[in-house]
Amino acid sequence: MKLLRDIVSVRRWRQGCKKRVVLVPTMGALHRGHTELMRLARKKAGPGGKVAASVFVNPTQFGPSEDFQAYPRPLEADLAACRQAGVDAVFVPEPAAMYTNDRSVSVCEDSLSKVLCGRSRAGHFNGVCTVVAKLFNILQPTHAVFGEKDWQQLAIIRRMVQDLDFPVEIVACPTIRETDGLALSSRNSYLSPAERAAAPKIQAALRSASGLASRAAIENHAARLIKKIPGAKIDYISAVDAATLAPLKNRKTPGRLCAAIHLGRARLIDNIPLPREK
Ligand code: PAJ
Repeated sequence: MKLLRDIVSVRRWRQGCKKRVVLVPTMGALHRGHTELMRLARKKAGPGGKVAASVFVNPTQFGPSEDFQAYPRPLEADLAACRQAGVDAVFVPEPAAMYTNDRSVSVCEDSLSKVLCGRSRAGHFNGVCTVVAKLFNILQPTHAVFGEKDWQQLAIIRRMVQDLDFPVEIVACPTIRETDGLALSSRNSYLSPAERAAAPKIQAALRSASGLASRAAIENHAARLIKKIPGAKIDYISAVDAATLAPLKNRKTPGRLCAAIHLGRARLIDNIPLPREK
């Protein structure tokens, strides 16, 4: 596996790739959720194709009161995880290689980023779009894999690729969960044992509500169940159109039930499909 620390080395590596190049962008602190993305990338790359991962804690997507400095950076363990998952090259840039102090151009999304997590994280998705656009330009992948765990991020990246004509196919990986249903996340480590035991009830509540007919019925039922979890505080529970993230009008188009819940020190997000009714 090649470790690429600067853009010139990436360009040189990329020139040697003759078939598919499948990129998995990450911020490191890798867990099984990430490595499953890499395994899917390996399959998608096919014979002769290459898998690239990036490990970069992107400063522009963190708000002033968020944990950019404290974000874990276990580089050696991350490189070992990439190697084990069949990654061919890992791009680990220094922040200075990605952003100059006098930068003045960024990618702004004006619609999907205004709802759900975007309401409480102003500027976050513009930071995500900007860094992903840069990674696409630097690595020039034919495909890129993103997790359904971050449904809003996936929907926004799809829209960016469509609106800005990036020649990249976006591949979605289903959410990887613990056996009790809790979606894997580095933030799960903030939970106390009692909170950890209660956390799978969030996903169970979403599932229990997902068969109901109307948006209001779905959201209210899920909220009633989640309010029963000791210490849980609802940020949002929203049934939305899976692609536009607009409030779900009916069950004739694919929907997504998305939630963000504060539980102790952790802010947990999860989402499940609301399949269209026949
Ligand atoms: P990060 O939080 O490191 O996540 C990297 C990728 O792993 C994302 O596509 C995310 O959806 C996926 N992922 C995380 N946990 C998952 C799980 N339990 N199941 C499935 N996929 C999971 O998301 C980011 O980094 C950044 O915003 C990034 C896109 C790298 C831009 O900086």
